[in-house]
Amino acid sequence: MRRSAILGAGHYVPTKVVTNDDLAKLMPTSDEWIQQRTGIKERRYIEHDGIGASDLAVPAVKMAVERAGRDLKDVDMIVFATLSPDVTFPGSGCLLADKLGLHGVPALDVRNQCSGFLYSLSIADAWVRAGVYKNVLIVGSEVHSTGIEFSERGRDVTVLFGDGAGAALVGESPSPDRGVLSLKLHADGAGAFDLWIPAPGSRHIPRVTHEMLDQGLQYPKMNGKSVFRWATEKMPEVAEEALKDAGMTIDDIDLFVPHQANMRINQFVAMKLNLPQEKIVHNIDRYGNTTAATIPIGLSESWADGRIKEGTCILSAAFGSGYTWAGAVIRW
Ligand code: ACO
Repeated sequence: MRRSAILGAGHYVPTKVVTNDDLAKLMPTSDEWIQQRTGIKERRYIEHDGIGASDLAVPAVKMAVERAGRDLKDVDMIVFATLSPDVTFPGSGCLLADKLGLHGVPALDVRNQCSGFLYSLSIADAWVRAGVYKNVLIVGSEVHSTGIEFSERGRDVTVLFGDGAGAALVGESPSPDRGVLSLKLHADGAGAFDLWIPAPGSRHIPRVTHEMLDQGLQYPKMNGKSVFRWATEKMPEVAEEALKDAGMTIDDIDLFVPHQANMRINQFVAMKLNLPQEKIVHNIDRYGNTTAATIPIGLSESWADGRIKEGTCILSAAFGSGYTWAGAVIRW
């Protein structure tokens, strides 16, 4: 049976470091409040105007392709996951293809927020196994800092998010016991308005008005308690489902690379799964929630620091806006 594998992973974060104390100068919040509830100490923001999600993706992609031992011209499909596209349309995948000089290579944007990377991996996995494409580039990239509100009204959301990009090259697995062993996807629109941006939107005539802007409808709105409740229920559930599908138990897992929404969510999920804390990858303290980018950044950093090597068995799980959630078991 043909299997897909992540051949290489890469990441990039902007150089501008924004600490909790920096945010406390802009709105009523504190380092103590943020660290206690989320585990976040700092995050990265783009350095200046004019940098979009596709720009952050370029160095991440180059790192992933190089680590895979491939060349950019080997890429025959691009899947780009983001909730913060450079512009409303066209998709960031098309913009990235142009920046990489990949003219004529198909490009698809995925709109699945925090689960976007695992959804993209599922698409790549299916294409590689079916023999439709050989080397699928999957990207998760976000520029949140230009779309959040630095005020008391927006502080619950604003302190959580950071900018960053991660990428992976997915191709045929070098051996049948390695690669993507299972992948499970879910969504439930009943929770759609627990985390969303109301405007602009095609359901408004016109799509955005001065009144909407005054009300701050262009900024994310979140029911934090509901997101927390759903995430701590669905992430362990989908992780168990993925393990079962791979014919494994939690004891077979060497490393848990979860979406980074909140340190408390991930500690809770690990506890429910009976996973020791030392097997969890955390980088939320340094980057905050980079949404579609958190998992590929986690994979890329763990590969670089030696926590992931050939044969490492990885469990991943994500939960986010939509609601969407997903789980995967991968043997590197
Ligand atoms: N700084 C200081 N005070 C704040 C801030 C802030 N940044 N944000 C909210 N507060 C205040 C609130 O106004 C409230 O004040 P009040 O008691 O006077 O009304 C108080 O702090 C407590 O607010 P709660 O919302 O009850 O705080 P809670 O303990 O639920 O923590 C949090 C909020 C951290 C957002 C939590 O609900 C959470 O982590 N939810 C998950 C959300 C999440 O992870 N979203 C990420 C995107 S989706 C994903 O990736 C899974």
